[in-house]
Amino acid sequence: IDSFAHELRSALHQYPNFPKKGILFEDFLPIFRSPQLFQKLVKAFTLHLEQKFPDTKIDYIVAMESRGFLFGPAVALAIGAGFVPVRKEGRLPGECLKAKYTKEYGSEVFEIQVESIPEGSNVVIMDDIIATGGSAYAAGELVQRLNANILEFAFVMELDFLKGREKLQAPTFTLLRGQEQALQ
Ligand code: PRP
Ligand code: MG
Repeated sequence: IDSFAHELRSALHQYPNFPKKGILFEDFLPIFRSPQLFQKLVKAFTLHLEQKFPDTKIDYIVAMESRGFLFGPAVALAIGAGFVPVRKEGRLPGECLKAKYTKEYGSEVFEIQVESIPEGSNVVIMDDIIATGGSAYAAGELVQRLNANILEFAFVMELDFLKGREKLQAPTFTLLRGQEQALQ
C-alpha cells in the first residue's frame, strides 16, 4: 500500500489559489488518466480493506456525488461488494432519505434511496477528500438511518488540520495522508 500511495501522491496536480485565494487544490484526476495508476488506486483500497476486515463481509460501498463516483464503483467491483450512491438533492427517484449539511456557500442536501441498503448491511463510505467532514457526516447519517452498519470511512486525501475525521460516526482511513495543506 505504501509504495502505491507514494506513486499516487506524486501524480496529484497542485493548483494554488483554486477555487479561491489561499487554497492549495490537490487535483486527483491525473490518476484516472492512467489505467495503471487507476488500477493502483483501486488495489490500494482493496488491500487495505482486506487487511482491516479479513473476516467481515463488506456488503456495500457507498460514495458521494460527484467525485466519490469516480472510484467508489471500481472499488466495490474489486471487492465483490454492491455500490450505492449518495446524491445531491432531487436526482434520485423513489422514496429517499435526506440529510442537510453545510458547505462553504450555504447548505446542501444529500439523498439516498430507502430501498438501496437492507438493514444490518456492512457499509464502507468513500469519497475523494475529507475537509470539514460535513459531507461525510451527512452520508453517515443516511446510512445509519437505514439501520446499516458503517465499518469505516475511506478517503483518498484528507485536510488533517480541519479535524473532520473527529466528527465522523466510524473510524477513518486516508490513503494519501499528510500531503494536503492550505497555502499561507
Ligand atoms: C467536495 C469533496 C468532498 C467534500 C469534502 O465535494 O469532493 O465530497 O467537498 O468537503 P467537506 O469534508 O467539508 O464536506 P463537492 O460537493 O464540493 O464537489 P464534487 O461534486 O466535485 O464532489
Ligand atoms: Mg464531493
